[in-house]
Amino acid sequence: MCGIVGYIGHREAYPIIIEGLKRLEYRGYDSAGIALFDGTSLNVSKTKGKVADLENCVQQEIPNLGHIGLGHTRWATHGVPNSVNSHPHISNSGELVIIHNGIIENYAALKQELISRGYTFKSDTDTEVLINLIEDVKKKENVKLGKAVQIALNQVIGAYAIAVFDKAKPDEIIIARLGSPLAVGIGENEFFIASDASPFIEFTKNAVYLEDEEMAIIREGKDIKIRKIKDDSLVDTYVQELQINLEQIEKGGFDHFMLKEIFEQPKAINDTYRGRLLREEAIIKMAGVEDNMKKFLNANRIIIAACGTSWHAGLVAEYIFEDLARIPVEVEYASEFRYRNPVITENDVLIAISQSGETADTLAAIKLAKSKGAFVFGVCNVVGSSIARETHAGAYTHAGPEIGVASTKAFTTQITVLTLMALRLARAKGTISSSDFRHHLLELEMIPKKVEKALKAEASIKEIAYTYKDVSNFLYLGRGYNFPVALEGALKLKEISYIHAEGYPAAEMKHGPIALIDENMPIVVIATKTPHYEKVVSNIQEIKSRKGKIIGIVTEGDKTVRELADHVIEVPETLESLSPLLNTIPLQLLSYYIAVMLGKNVDQPRNLAKSVTVE
Ligand code: G6P
Repeated sequence: MCGIVGYIGHREAYPIIIEGLKRLEYRGYDSAGIALFDGTSLNVSKTKGKVADLENCVQQEIPNLGHIGLGHTRWATHGVPNSVNSHPHISNSGELVIIHNGIIENYAALKQELISRGYTFKSDTDTEVLINLIEDVKKKENVKLGKAVQIALNQVIGAYAIAVFDKAKPDEIIIARLGSPLAVGIGENEFFIASDASPFIEFTKNAVYLEDEEMAIIREGKDIKIRKIKDDSLVDTYVQELQINLEQIEKGGFDHFMLKEIFEQPKAINDTYRGRLLREEAIIKMAGVEDNMKKFLNANRIIIAACGTSWHAGLVAEYIFEDLARIPVEVEYASEFRYRNPVITENDVLIAISQSGETADTLAAIKLAKSKGAFVFGVCNVVGSSIARETHAGAYTHAGPEIGVASTKAFTTQITVLTLMALRLARAKGTISSSDFRHHLLELEMIPKKVEKALKAEASIKEIAYTYKDVSNFLYLGRGYNFPVALEGALKLKEISYIHAEGYPAAEMKHGPIALIDENMPIVVIATKTPHYEKVVSNIQEIKSRKGKIIGIVTEGDKTVRELADHVIEVPETLESLSPLLNTIPLQLLSYYIAVMLGKNVDQPRNLAKSVTVE
């Protein structure tokens, strides 16, 4: 978490860094800071709050001058969010400046050592320890800044993406990464440094992504030299051409990124299967699966590891893989899996699902599975992300940048990729008939149009949101493929409206949650036409007898649930295996409108961050 931005070149650094920080606020937004050097004085401004609050501070406190600068938007780990703990941090001499994303785990021991040698600390952060460690090494060893950073980092345990400069040498920025992403935009005699490429896409399409355990010395007007932190060996600089554009990371007329991303789903799903689903030829082409077909076909089981919404996509995938391809699947919270000493063999396949491709726990699960010899496949959205690089093979979701912290299009596109995989494997194993396979392809191709139709319920969903916006609890129920959808609906509501919500398998309701039901409890029941429909209708009867308020997600034309429920939201009919792609849509809109009506910050909900790069 945390977003970092740096600039060195011929332009004013201030506007570039501030605008860049705004684009990285999805990574953290509890405090922000900036340091600019104008050749004479180092101007630092920091504040609790958002980048907009920082802008106000800067206008009152410091002149916006300088062609070199570092900025930071924070998601607090060590020390509460306040102006002292926010970055940049300055070394004791006042010469060195740092921004940091990550955690220095052995900071307490390093701090004690530095205190014993006379260093003092203003903040509670691990970052202030790191910059003083660098300063200490620089003085003791009498080395240049780059060397000092390298020696210091070899003493550090933890994760980091850092950028550092020295007031005395303002034509140079040193950067390094281990476990947190870092991109460098290469312009004409200028360099942009950022946690992802979004802060600099209007300036350059050429970017270098640092790998783990690499550092770089960036010299204004000159070059970027990348070295291994461990042994100082030189690494070739690989310049990539960026595929994203400015339009993709702007709101495009929508009030919030989340709403924009909800409405982007028809296109996003289409982009996910384009070139992979060839209906007329009745084939699915996925290079990562094709090239490793034997691994999948010989697998004892598939283990899916993920966090948050991606974990819910994994749960949907469990149903699809088992149902269609008859491969046993276990779905794991990556954070539990990595510390559980799980039994993993060379005949296991691990699928890691991650929108950002940077989630620390998911990365750790991948490394663990690899160390046991398992084949690891990644389903990521962010191209070139750490997880995409760490896995043996993978498939991108191609959803385009997702900026709203609450994940929407990433979820439906993950399910789309996993469905394509399950269908491809089912065909290879012969567990699906040719006609059933063709039927699935046809239906999958119709999903974008059906999502468009489901989105048309927006106005009636708004009314339902208005009716229930002031309640304190919600229940979400679903069965089979739609049990994970109930979990995801509840998570969306919790994340952005701060209303307590629980998702349950509909039949489990009678083993506990039914005790909560009274006339004040809204219950969202996914009751579309699936083989469990009658059973779900019985559950609805049970709720009705206890006077719960029923919001039914139903298939177009449904009459039975309409008679029982207080509200219904219709979605088009599809196959049960594809129904999560449609049934999720009204739940996303419901949580969105409740949060908007409650005046919550939809795109940046409190305490959350989009990319969780700490444990
Ligand atoms: C955070 C985000 C969630 C996301 C989860 C996993 O908690 O707020 O929206 O589902 O991380 O992220 P990933 O990038 O691995 O999918």
